[in-house]
Amino acid sequence: MNKSKEYKDKITLAVTGASGSGYFLRLLKSLVDAEIQIYLLLSDAAKIVLKTEENEDWPEDVNDLNTYLQNKYQSKEQQIIALTAKDWFSPVASGSSAPDKMIICPCSCGTLASIAQGVSNNLIERSADVILKERGQLIIMPRETPFSTIHLRNMLTLSELGVTVMPLAPGFYHQPKTIEDLQDFMVARVLDHLKIPHKIGKRWCE
Ligand SMILES: Cc1cc2nc3c(=O)[nH]c(=O)nc-3n(C[C@H](O)[C@H](O)[C@H](O)COP(=O)(O)O)c2cc1C
Repeated sequence: MNKSKEYKDKITLAVTGASGSGYFLRLLKSLVDAEIQIYLLLSDAAKIVLKTEENEDWPEDVNDLNTYLQNKYQSKEQQIIALTAKDWFSPVASGSSAPDKMIICPCSCGTLASIAQGVSNNLIERSADVILKERGQLIIMPRETPFSTIHLRNMLTLSELGVTVMPLAPGFYHQPKTIEDLQDFMVARVLDHLKIPHKIGKRWCE
């Protein structure tokens, strides 16, 4: 698991078709600002949810998408590397080259189930499988309500394997006034878990 000298770290960031794509957008920007290199994986359902919830209509072609994201986030060339669902020759698909950290935000219950069963049918599932077999750090951020017993069993399976299950359920003790305040609460917690320094949101007792 190698690290580029140009960046402080590298990470795989996946977004799936659960509600809460605004959390993902905020997290992506924070990782860019923290000078992290990001391998970006989007499911087809994630693109639909991004359009529905955030009016984000991203290019279908992956090369166009990379150019679009570089402009949108003012990121360095190759800082955000978007990949396609079947890009089996990409670094994230193999333990010899993948980052040792991955976040799935938001994580659909479908992707949660596939990862818990080791299905590896697309690059998101395969990347998570690689993190599990290499014993890296996997953070999944599921969103559904209520959770069925199947969802809960799948979360338990992953938790027992060392995965951090961080449901998209922000606290209210910081008295949020805006949606961004709520998004920041969750983004700050993820960055804390990854030990990425940040100044987002207030901490408990601050
Ligand atoms: C607008 C919208 C919101 C959705 N919200 C959720 C959700 O909160 N949680 C969830 O598990 N699935 C949700 N779904 C359903 C998933 O997108 C669907 O199960 C999909 O197959 C997941 O595929 P993926 O895991 O490859 O992204 C939503 C779908 C749409 C279109």
